[in-house]
Amino acid sequence: MADMDGFKDAAAYGIGTPQKNEAFFLKGNENQGWGVKNRLSRIFNPKTGHTVMLAFDHGFIMGPTSGLERIDLTINPLVEYADCLMCTRGVLRSVVPPTTSKPVCLRTDGGTTILTELNLNRVYDVEDVIRLNVSAMAVMVACGDKASEQITTHNLVHTVDMGAKYGIPVLGVTAVGKDMARDARYFGLATRVCAENGASFVKTYYTEEGFEKVVAQCPVPIVIAGGKKLPEDKALELAYKAIQAGAAGVDMGRNVFQSAKPLAMMKAISAVVHQGLSAQDAFQLYNDEK
Ligand code: 5RP
Repeated sequence: MADMDGFKDAAAYGIGTPQKNEAFFLKGNENQGWGVKNRLSRIFNPKTGHTVMLAFDHGFIMGPTSGLERIDLTINPLVEYADCLMCTRGVLRSVVPPTTSKPVCLRTDGGTTILTELNLNRVYDVEDVIRLNVSAMAVMVACGDKASEQITTHNLVHTVDMGAKYGIPVLGVTAVGKDMARDARYFGLATRVCAENGASFVKTYYTEEGFEKVVAQCPVPIVIAGGKKLPEDKALELAYKAIQAGAAGVDMGRNVFQSAKPLAMMKAISAVVHQGLSAQDAFQLYNDEK
């Protein structure tokens, strides 16, 4: 029992000051449990409501793509500038230092590669996900793809069920494929399907036309992928336009780790996402960084 010497009577009851019930800052997640909200608050900055996720999970379908040959050399130095790391469990265990305090959004499905049919994936065992102490699980959904729509939607449904059991939010990732459109109509449908099946946030691609409608119709936050490598000023413009249209952040890979100056790119993207810096000013920031 605690030592009672010098015990002070409780007195600071704050009588007359009602306990605050604060609304949760991320859209569509008010009715989640504490664990989900806490994990989402590690991924998204509660002050800005935004996030810069660093995606380096490409190897699970592409192998050692340019910039990811040696993740220890190219990605680990960027970790402290990201709000969240998105990778596979293999890379997390083998390369990412367990001393990092950054939240991890774990790629939780795997299956086929670019050499065959994409997206015929199955999902990880949730117990392994829990062992890795992750903040979110990311699952691909391939709406409209005859071969994989059903299996990938089932993957999402199953992962959301597992997430609900253990308080882990799920990121629905909208797939792109050779027979799938890349316009606002398609991404609106695909992001909505992810949200309707219980994803807490959704990753998709920016579209020049109608992206604000994609964001508006999705009841949970949207983060955008960067896609193929663009010139740095164009990639910053992409991030800027997406944020201005209502995206809650980016989950970028190639436009960071294939950049001539990946660290400078991380800083410039972060300024766009969190401070609303214009694409031009962010490009200046990129150029000013050594
Ligand atoms: C693929 C992914 C990747 O993480 C995603 O494409 C982000 O990387 P990039 O910015 O290079 O497109 O989810 O399924």
